[in-house]
Amino acid sequence: MERDVVDLCLRHQVRCVEASAFLDLTPQVVRYRLAGLSRAASGQVRAGNRLVAKISRAEVAERFLRPAPEPIVRGLLDAGLVTAEQAELARGVPVADDITVEADSGGHTDRRPLTVLLPEIIALRDRVRRELAGSGQPWQVRVGAAGGIGTPAAAAAAFALGAAYVVTGSVNQASVEASQSPATKRLLAGAGTADCVMAPSADMFEMGVEVQVLQRGTMFASRARRLYEVYRAHDGIEAIPAAERDALERKIFLRPLDDVWADTVRFFTERDPDQIARAADNPKRRMALVFRWYLGLSSGWSIAGEPSRATDYQIWCGPAMGAFNTWVAGTYLAPVENRRVADIATQIMRGAAFSSRVGHLRSAGVRLPVRCATYIPSLIPSPPRTGAAAGLDRWEQS
Ligand SMILES: Cc1cc2nc3c(=O)[nH]c(=O)nc-3n(C[C@H](O)[C@H](O)[C@H](O)COP(=O)(O)O)c2cc1C
Repeated sequence: MERDVVDLCLRHQVRCVEASAFLDLTPQVVRYRLAGLSRAASGQVRAGNRLVAKISRAEVAERFLRPAPEPIVRGLLDAGLVTAEQAELARGVPVADDITVEADSGGHTDRRPLTVLLPEIIALRDRVRRELAGSGQPWQVRVGAAGGIGTPAAAAAAFALGAAYVVTGSVNQASVEASQSPATKRLLAGAGTADCVMAPSADMFEMGVEVQVLQRGTMFASRARRLYEVYRAHDGIEAIPAAERDALERKIFLRPLDDVWADTVRFFTERDPDQIARAADNPKRRMALVFRWYLGLSSGWSIAGEPSRATDYQIWCGPAMGAFNTWVAGTYLAPVENRRVADIATQIMRGAAFSSRVGHLRSAGVRLPVRCATYIPSLIPSPPRTGAAAGLDRWEQS
């Protein structure tokens, strides 16, 4: 699948790709990068294919910060997938142009604190750069920050730590443009910072991998966790005690597990028959597929706003959502109908600039009135004021 994606990107000249959730470099991600390398008339190496790698671990970041490993480059050259010149140029070019450091976020997350992880990766970037300084053209890999950014203060903090850019995720899901149901957007708009929780993930259920989801207003997380506990405790659906099985059918699946299995067989027979073949003489695997039916469909119920499944909505969300809601309370951005995604980004960035300046002034010994210290998103200018207050307004505007 990855090879097909890279084929498509190269054929259609996609010039920038974000690679995320990699545990290691793969030949295909390296191939995308190398296939864009050329030498300009000036002698400079040109990287025509930009790569943004999103990571949450230093060891993975390091692989993207360094030139591609020799064995992978040689393999690509031998397979005729890159030219001899590209293989040669690869020696002096890091695999990625940008590294997005992802701290505690919505969805799949390692839940690392940004204040720990970001400085660690920036220091790693600088160390690798110093090490490679003698090897030709100096490349500066930008390091950006993601995870927990939903307010100007959070963005300003990331920039103060040295981030070159910031990325938001959770807050975008409650925007007008997001493909989520109005019911889910209302739940997101009502979330506080403590309203998120970890729950088993549909794609890696058996391995115990979790995703961060919204807890308030939905029972998904507790129901999914119950399924995982049952999965751990029994060797197959047939081994689940009758009372327990009955409770699962009545409270979570709302139908007999035999029917769910029949649907599961139909689903995978069309898309991925191997899944069913592998479960044929493996009752534990069959149980996992049945439980994954619930986990897989629950995101769709949320997106569609399925009323009969309102308590089963699986909504990926991190604490940034609650922080955003607190910040915009009482402003035009409180109702979800007004939350346009580009505007959210503009307000966060403008507010981050404001917060940074307030910080600089404080460092310089300027004492500011409390009302000046926080950026409030406002589309409508307040009526002009007089006297000392007018002076404050002029200062704020400048
Ligand atoms: C609903 C949702 C879906 C996401 N899907 C993906 C995805 O498919 N691939 C990915 O790399 N990151 C995905 N993310 C993570 C975001 O791209 C981003 O890194 C993260 O949300 C930033 O942290 P925040 O949620 O605290 O803002 C998703 C996040 C959310 C909230």
